[in-house]
Amino acid sequence: MSKFYITTPLYYVNASPHIGHAYTNVICDCLARFKRMQGNDVFFLTGTDEHGEKIKRAADAEKTDVSSFIDGKVSIFKNLWSKLNISYDFFIRTTDDFHRQAVERAVKTLLDKGDIYKAKYKGFYCMPCESFWTEAQVKEAGGKCPLCKRDVEEIVEDDYFFRLSKYGSWLKKYLEDNPYSIRPCIRYNEVMGFLNNNILEDLCISRPKGRVSWGIGLPIDNNFVVYVWFDALLNYISAAGFGRDDGRFKYLWPADIHFVGKDIIRHHAVFWPIMLKALGLEPPRLIFAHGWWKVGEDKISKSKGNVVDPLRLIEDFGVSAVRYFLLREVPVGMDGNFSRETVINRINSDLANDLGNLVYRTLNMAQKYFSGRIETDKADIPGVFISSLDELSLKYAGCMDDVDFGTALDMIWKFIGVMNKFVEETKPWILWKDKRSSELKWFLFSLLEGIRIAAVYIYPFMPSASESIFEQLGLVSKSEVGLKNVLWEKRMFTVKKKNPLFPRIDI
Ligand code: ME8
Ligand code: MG
Repeated sequence: MSKFYITTPLYYVNASPHIGHAYTNVICDCLARFKRMQGNDVFFLTGTDEHGEKIKRAADAEKTDVSSFIDGKVSIFKNLWSKLNISYDFFIRTTDDFHRQAVERAVKTLLDKGDIYKAKYKGFYCMPCESFWTEAQVKEAGGKCPLCKRDVEEIVEDDYFFRLSKYGSWLKKYLEDNPYSIRPCIRYNEVMGFLNNNILEDLCISRPKGRVSWGIGLPIDNNFVVYVWFDALLNYISAAGFGRDDGRFKYLWPADIHFVGKDIIRHHAVFWPIMLKALGLEPPRLIFAHGWWKVGEDKISKSKGNVVDPLRLIEDFGVSAVRYFLLREVPVGMDGNFSRETVINRINSDLANDLGNLVYRTLNMAQKYFSGRIETDKADIPGVFISSLDELSLKYAGCMDDVDFGTALDMIWKFIGVMNKFVEETKPWILWKDKRSSELKWFLFSLLEGIRIAAVYIYPFMPSASESIFEQLGLVSKSEVGLKNVLWEKRMFTVKKKNPLFPRIDI
């Protein structure tokens, strides 16, 4: 059994989560469930980023004290993760005491090494992005934030700096030697382009308390708080036991995969590996940046006010359909355009028509013809199933490991298509009329066994739909979910049909 450490970004709690946040967590959950299914010891981390000016202002705007404001938001996030079946192992809040201690420890270590110094900061700050920008960067972006294109604030203040510049050439060499440590390739090229065209400047890691009061106090100077990104990135090691549980930390670190949106690739692929290097720690094995959900040309975001509420979608379409849509509609890494119409089309074609219909009519026949009990002497695989099942058993794990969810789903749906065609071509109602009972039993057994195997493959994508299928097949999902269970086996089924898994939706 090997460990697999997977993380999501820590979301700001200035507002409630939207479909973009749901997306990252669903991707991570799908991979985490697959890795568990493979037999790995998964540590799946998510949580919330709770410091910084943006959150303080959001609390002030609601005239609430910041602690109760963030507690309220955290429970909204946790509720969404539970509704979305997100199987995280640990939820970190940057206001957790152990995290503060880890941040203090990291700052002190870097100070002792001479990697932190005090100087005057002169530049720009984007509050929505909580990011510092140089004059040149802002100029190039037409006087706006290069990332979100909003107004920036010019600041001149005394601050503490981390010597990012000292490690620039190390990072370049490391990334040249490890081209697959940032994916997809387009993001690797983006980071390399940035490193090749810019001289890395040192990173400001403090904010004066006069301006920003809400944060972890800088342990070396109590007139300052730690810059929110410097604080937040350290969560990936603090949650794994850094400075608190060496054995656990040694076991878990480095993280196997940090999932992020492409908006925060630079923080993760430039600042973070250098922070780790300076602390004497290994870089993460892989940073995977997915694309954005957009409405028209615009990224869905809290501040644009074009958010899609994931809870509402779950209410309307069910959790399985929402997860399926997010994982199926666009390849991880590309941008996607969101509309309710595309969601409904997906549900009607892939879920209601293909999968739902197959399960429903198979169970229907099993009940009608044999009162739900299917036992068969002949258990060989129908010839027409063989190539799609072989393809799945050869390629599924590779696709999943590669975060190529689209290809994995294509293969599963090809097999579902084969089973639906098998029903059409066998014409079971004629077997029934002609009393060819043992042929009919083998036919139904084949479909039930095929559906069972498909449900194993489907599990990481739609765990609750998969569980419902196992239940209807008379099986206990707990013992069925595992990649070792995809072999064709002779068995007896006692099925109990429920309502259709995915009713058709009218537009
Ligand atoms: O950046 N499409 O938090 P955040 C897809 N606290 N994903 C989206 C999205 C969209 N339209 N909008 C948001 C922060 N996301 C920091 C992170 S990590 C140590 C600190 C997702 O609340 C995506 O994962 O702004 C993106 O990277 C993240 O939410 C940003 O969340
Ligand atoms: Mg953001």
